[in-house]
Order: sequence, then structure tokens, then C-alpha cells
Amino acid sequence: MELEYKNRRDILLSKLHDNSLAILFSGDYKTRSNDTEYPFRQNSNFYYLSGFMEDNSCLVFLKKEQKTEVILFVEKKDKTKELWSGKRLGKKEAKKRFLVDKVYEYHDLEMKLQSYMIMQENLYYSFNLETSKVDRVKKYAKGINTLLNLNYHVENMRLLKSQSEIDLIKKALSITKNAHHKAIKIAKTLQYEYELQSEIEYVFKKNGAYSDAYTSIVACGNSANTLHYISNDKKLVDGELILIDAGCEYKYYASDITRTIPVSGKFSDAQKELYEMVLSVELKIIEMIKPKIKRSSLQKKSEELLCKGMIKLGILKGDYKKLLKKKAHKKYYPHGIGHWMGLDVHDECPYKDENGKEILLQAGMVMTIEPGIYIDENDTTVPKKYRGIGIRIEDDILVTLSGHENLSQGIAKSVKEIEEISL
Ligand code: GLY
Ligand code: MN
Ligand code: MN
Repeated sequence: MELEYKNRRDILLSKLHDNSLAILFSGDYKTRSNDTEYPFRQNSNFYYLSGFMEDNSCLVFLKKEQKTEVILFVEKKDKTKELWSGKRLGKKEAKKRFLVDKVYEYHDLEMKLQSYMIMQENLYYSFNLETSKVDRVKKYAKGINTLLNLNYHVENMRLLKSQSEIDLIKKALSITKNAHHKAIKIAKTLQYEYELQSEIEYVFKKNGAYSDAYTSIVACGNSANTLHYISNDKKLVDGELILIDAGCEYKYYASDITRTIPVSGKFSDAQKELYEMVLSVELKIIEMIKPKIKRSSLQKKSEELLCKGMIKLGILKGDYKKLLKKKAHKKYYPHGIGHWMGLDVHDECPYKDENGKEILLQAGMVMTIEPGIYIDENDTTVPKKYRGIGIRIEDDILVTLSGHENLSQGIAKSVKEIEEISL
């Protein structure tokens, strides 16, 4: 694996202008409240290029007259600090393990930066860095003419997943599959959304997934119509559906899966009509995925299909072309068809190239497909039987040379599969 990180650094170096210095900081601990912190999560770009999991660290890239150097700065080993906060790898071990040219201690960063910046023309750093770090980076950059965004290059590289990345996403999805199947099985035995959430997240942790990839949504009935519902504190009501958007993160790689299941284990006729309409759209959009397709084409097609489906079920009334033109379907399908996924659930990779042109799908990209329909309980313009139902179905798709591979294949999705598991 260390070699894969080194190869990524070499590729990044090849993209930098000559006479450049690039700097990339690790993540920081984030305060939850007062003196308690969230568990540490490494900055994804930093992890992608180093595999190093400590805070207070930094990567520096130097490129001068085609000669390159990569320097890793790590926190000093300190017995007292380590007693409270855990062991640090330290300079010596880091040098042995990571295939960088030099390793220094983090407290030497400023001194070193001062000398590195002499005679450089370009400085690359993350443009979304907090101001205190930007100030630190720019402090010695007096002779530097051009400031460039390092993220752009790293995130472009992150668009195409390697085999080892795909394997980790698959592993995350195999755990997420078990969690969703357990949820289908036991929903009817539980009383509250948070109980179901805890059962799902238990499966994540029990199987070695460090964390969820995002806060789980477990939304029963009308709660599913709040797109970012995360309070998960309402009762599970017999006869209603539960929208579960939950995926684990395994060794830094995300999974992102939504299933919508009946509390009782059995869909009502109205629920089934809506569900199968959304499912047919999801399957058709997945079928479209292959190299050279645009994400915007998938978006457009999903809107057309959902608009037609809504007319067929009497949710929208009127002429298809006029309704589509007015974007009437947006009221019930207000979000995008999907997003890049990888080290982040919403992978920070570009959707447009440097000329502003949309990036076409290419083998190695991973994208979610997640059409949905959300009908508020008080929407009297819709047949009563559909009110208070929110449905989303989401899978994670790898673009391949010949088309695509559904990485989440096997997670129960048809009415029949879901009803059978819940028996
Ligand atoms: N779970 C976040 C999303 O589906 O985009
Ligand atoms: Mn998603
Ligand atoms: Mn999701």
C-alpha cells in the first residue's frame, strides 16, 4: 500500500509546475463541545497521498528544475502527551515506513518552509484551508507570484479509483448489506427509529467499520419527506415505510445505501405502486451507465421517467411535456440523481473540467444512483393513499470499460426480496 501512496505522490508531482512548492496539512481534531472532541478523521486528500493517520502532520512537495522532493512532517514523540492521547509513530519510524524523501518534526515546519520558499515561483495549497493555516503558509511566500489550488489536482486524481480502492468500497458495502438486511428482519420488533439505527450501526462496528460514512437517516412515515432527517427519534409505526439511508466507512472508504422498507415487513398496495415506480426508474438509470455518458444525462432521464411515473399514478396532472418543462416533478423529486463516492461519501471530485465542460463518465469512477419521491402528508393535491410516503432507493455503481458494475448488487431491493427477508 505504501507504494500506491508513493505512486500517487509521483503523479501529483508530475502535474505541478516547475519551481513549485505544495503543502498539504493533515486533518485536525474537531471540538464537539467545551473540551470534548469528535473522533479524529484524517483529511481525505492527505490520507490519499500519505496513508498517514495522525493529526499535526503535513506533506510538502518541492519541484525545482525537474528535481523533486517529498517531505513528511510528523508530531514529535513525547512521553507525557502520549500518556494522555496515545502513541505517535515519530520521525524515525515514519521514515522507515513511508516512502518519502525526508521526515521532520511538525514543530520545525515554519523554519523549513522559510527556506523552501526561497526562489520558488508557485505555491500550491488547499484553498479551503482555515485562515490560520493559510496565514502560516503565506507568511514566507513573499517572492512567490502564483498561488494555486492543490485540491484541484488531488481531487481530479481521486475521480478514478484503483483496484485497492474498489476492493475497500466493496468491503464497506458487504458490511452495509448485512446491516440493511438485519434492519429489514428486525424492524417489526422495535419501537423507535433510533433503536433501528443502533442495530444498523452495531453491525458496522462489529464488523470492523470504524464509523458510519455519514449520519444515518432512519425515517419512518412522513419523516422521510425531510431529506436530511437525522433526529431518528420517532416511533416506528406499523403500516408505514421506513427510509433508511445508512452506510459504513471501512478503512476510510465510504458506502452509501438507501433502502425503503415496510415496518411490518409487507408493503401495502399504495406503497408498492410508488415503490415499484421509483425502483423501475433506478434500474433504468443504472442501465444507462457506461463510459462517455454525462451525469447530466442521467439526471435528465431520471426527471423524465419520474415525471411520467408521477402522471401515471395521478400525483401530477396534465400534459407530460408541459409538466416536464415547468419542472413540476421537482416538488416531489428535488435532489440530484447521484454523486461521486470514495474516500468521502460525497467525494470531493470535480464534475467539470478546467474549461468548465462536464466530465464524462470513465471506467474507474464510482457514482451513487438515488432517485426518490417525497410526498408530504398534508399535500392535498395528491391521491390520499400516497400522502406521507417518502421513498428513495440508492446504490453505488462502478463505471467499467464495458458499462458498469453495481457494487451494491445483492442488497435486497425488490418488493419480493424485502418481504422475504422480513419473514
Ligand atoms: N447519504 C447521503 C446521500 O445519499 O447523498
Ligand atoms: Mn448518496
Ligand atoms: Mn445516501
